[in-house]
Amino acid sequence: MAIYLDNNATTPMDERVLEAMMPYFRDHFGNASSVHSRGRVARQAVETAREQVARLVNARPAQVIFTSGGTEANNFALRSVRHLATGPYRVAVSAVEHPSVLEPAKQWGETGIIPVDEQGRVGQRDMRLALANTPQLVSVMTANNETGVLQDIPSLAALAREQGVLFHTDAVQAAGKVALDFDRLGVHLLTLSGHKLYGPKGVGALIVDSQLDIEPLLVGGGQERGRRSGTENVAAIVGFGLAAELAADELAARSAHVQRLRERFENALQSMTDVVLFGQQAGRLPNTVLMAIPGIDGETLLMALDRAGIEVSSGSACDSQKSRASHVLLAMGVEAEIARCAVRISLGKENTTDDIDQLVSVLKQQIQMLRSLSSLAWA
Ligand SMILES: Cc1ncc(COP(=O)(O)O)c(C=O)c1O
Repeated sequence: MAIYLDNNATTPMDERVLEAMMPYFRDHFGNASSVHSRGRVARQAVETAREQVARLVNARPAQVIFTSGGTEANNFALRSVRHLATGPYRVAVSAVEHPSVLEPAKQWGETGIIPVDEQGRVGQRDMRLALANTPQLVSVMTANNETGVLQDIPSLAALAREQGVLFHTDAVQAAGKVALDFDRLGVHLLTLSGHKLYGPKGVGALIVDSQLDIEPLLVGGGQERGRRSGTENVAAIVGFGLAAELAADELAARSAHVQRLRERFENALQSMTDVVLFGQQAGRLPNTVLMAIPGIDGETLLMALDRAGIEVSSGSACDSQKSRASHVLLAMGVEAEIARCAVRISLGKENTTDDIDQLVSVLKQQIQMLRSLSSLAWA
């Protein structure tokens, strides 16, 4: 079996989660809106999951709206407050956001892009400048999927609140890796996704400030208190709920584990020449390393590692289809030539020290091989 080091793209489902979901595909297949007992069993399961997800971010269950994933929750967030704008709908989003924030922001509003520094952080000065343009909503992610760099959300959200501006954070990558508290973050809207924390794909949530009057994204049968219609995906919601509960209970142990593995890897990298590490001076998620070997294309290295049984990613999974330089690294001022060499290693709770030792040894071999091939090509 290949060694999986791409946990920011998706995580393997926890066996306990899979087991908890199975009955909801079989006996408990009821519609959560039905009043008979099968329906009530499904409803109860959805409400238990709502409590579990709320607990992960220290919010109240009524604040949780289940969605089909992080992408929908991000689209929803950006769309949900448009009706509150008195003039043109203006939004400001950081330059390093996931496309599921950047694209709706561009399509649905007059968009200000907030720059980041060379470590990938949004600074107070740039935040103030963005606010001077009087947006309705600001969106800055809690942690970046490519670099793992963490933003200082409490201070940025406090600046927005001072100006009466609403604040959304995409916490898809941060959840389950660092502690999150909705009120302490000071945000109005927060996005989560099931499959980044050992839960199923195709389920997520938007957590909403209880005072906020949001416009529904989907209308119809009035599920999720009229804010997101559609028959609930009960099995997936059950899985997401348990995954959230386990993530909260095991947070400290999981973080310490991946951090130890990352230190082992980064120590080994020190003996290798010409390795560039991104976002090193910033606070980062404990599991993420974004690195480049100048002169070796990220995609080429990824394929070489894959052939040797190690699965990593070049930048984000979506960008890697397109083989272009990551917008995140470009925003950090990294030259396109170096940015195209980026490879991301994202560790998970199932990884072991043996995985890291294998990675280091295969990486050394492959780099040597690719370098000798490229010198032959120039000979
Ligand atoms: C930061 C971030 N936001 C949003 C998403 C989208 O989440 P989903 O895959 O659940 O639609 C991802 C997934 O890659 C992500 O990394």
